[in-house]
Amino acid sequence: MQPIHRRTLLRAGLATAGVTALAGCTDDQPPDATFVAPDGEEVHTAEANRHPGATREFRFAAVAAPVDLGGVSVTTWSYDGTVPGRPIRVTAGEVVRASLVNRLPEHTTVHWHGLALRNDADGVPDVTQKPVKAGGEHVYEFTAGHPGTFWFHPHAGVQLDRGLYAPLIVEDPHEPLAYDDEWVVVLDDWLDGVDGRTPDAQFAQLRKGMGMMGGHMMGVGSSYLLGGDAGDVRYPHYVLNGRLPAAPAVYQGRPGGRLRMRLINAGGDTAFRVALGGHRMTVTHTDGYPVQPVDSDALLVGMGERYDVLVTLADGVFPLVALAEGKDATALGLVRTASGAAPTATARPGELDGKIVAYRNLKPAEAVRLPARNPDRTIELKLTGGMMNYDWAFNNSRYDPKRLTPVRAGERVRVAFVNTTTMWHPVHLHGHTFAVGDSGLRMDTAIVLPGQTLAASFDADNPGRWMVHCHNVYHAEGGMMTLLGYQK
Ligand code: C2O
Ligand code: CU
Repeated sequence: MQPIHRRTLLRAGLATAGVTALAGCTDDQPPDATFVAPDGEEVHTAEANRHPGATREFRFAAVAAPVDLGGVSVTTWSYDGTVPGRPIRVTAGEVVRASLVNRLPEHTTVHWHGLALRNDADGVPDVTQKPVKAGGEHVYEFTAGHPGTFWFHPHAGVQLDRGLYAPLIVEDPHEPLAYDDEWVVVLDDWLDGVDGRTPDAQFAQLRKGMGMMGGHMMGVGSSYLLGGDAGDVRYPHYVLNGRLPAAPAVYQGRPGGRLRMRLINAGGDTAFRVALGGHRMTVTHTDGYPVQPVDSDALLVGMGERYDVLVTLADGVFPLVALAEGKDATALGLVRTASGAAPTATARPGELDGKIVAYRNLKPAEAVRLPARNPDRTIELKLTGGMMNYDWAFNNSRYDPKRLTPVRAGERVRVAFVNTTTMWHPVHLHGHTFAVGDSGLRMDTAIVLPGQTLAASFDADNPGRWMVHCHNVYHAEGGMMTLLGYQK
């Protein structure tokens, strides 16, 4: 009784003040109006401080159309009919002005993963924008302030598990790395349009508790790297740059050439273990931010994560293999610097079982290390739920767009992700790049193993309402999403 009464009073009071945004008003929370609005004054000020440069125009359509994965044609949803979509490439400081045309049968949005951008361009439906209706159009305009490897995808339902994704590369006008060429490599697990499957049907099946049948019993195994269950979904295909292993994407170079590979995991439910046969890779960036370079034979890339690596190319034809971790299947690409027979579609180079750098083996480059500081605020987010009831959540509460956890501009915020589940989760924060644990590695998406805690610290310097969620699209849609809100 009492809370209702209090809320009524608040509504009345705010209505008198001419405030209409009351969506966030619940019993335990301050009313919505106490949080910075996605297009609020604070957001405009932060954007102006990025010193927006020249504007670059892009236009693409989300379409339902057949796509050839290399011998297998699927009817799917993609940007302009290609998988991945055409990359957007700009220089840091430039303004991206991208028009999205929605030719899908349902609403969609675009989220620019990893970018510290203005909040109203972040693409979260009913939080930072109204969803773009079928047949509608929406213009995203934002400064790409920081160089790095990013990507974009919808933030609606489980659309990400179709073919709706593309790289967003922000070049450094003062690139410190020396290399001859680069190759953007996008990895994905694929089920859409194969044998009548869709991500929506897959999600419905998981929700009905059919996960144990659809997943584990039919072939999703466990992984020592992931601390147990590798995933919830068994996919019929794994693709690299939209191609099946039988008809792989090929990078053509010359022996001795220095190649920068930008690896992006666009999968819905699959971590990839990536190696280039006959080569070691020098890791140079995590999620677009430079690290002190370290050599590795292979890398474990969770959904949403990116790694940049440098390789010096040997003479021959080499398999770039992305092992679907715990799923006993691979995606394949080829690096060719000489004529000769290609490796087989099922190649598994020994590097996959070599040294794999973990977060603790990596350090941020000094230039991007967050200065040491005690947290002003600690937020504990327990990862909860499980496969049985498909009740993935934070702190046992499924996503509610009206519930915002407060932070304040200027604070050093420490988010403790406490994984109480028996499964790993790649947790992602929008609009910021956090520093992981003690190493300070800069990332916007990081794997939290079962039973473990990951501390993610960031400076609250980008006002708005920002999502935190698991980048397993089925876990997110199941409820493992929440919001941080900057208080006015
Ligand atoms: Cu790529 Cu909200 O995420
Ligand atoms: Cu998860």
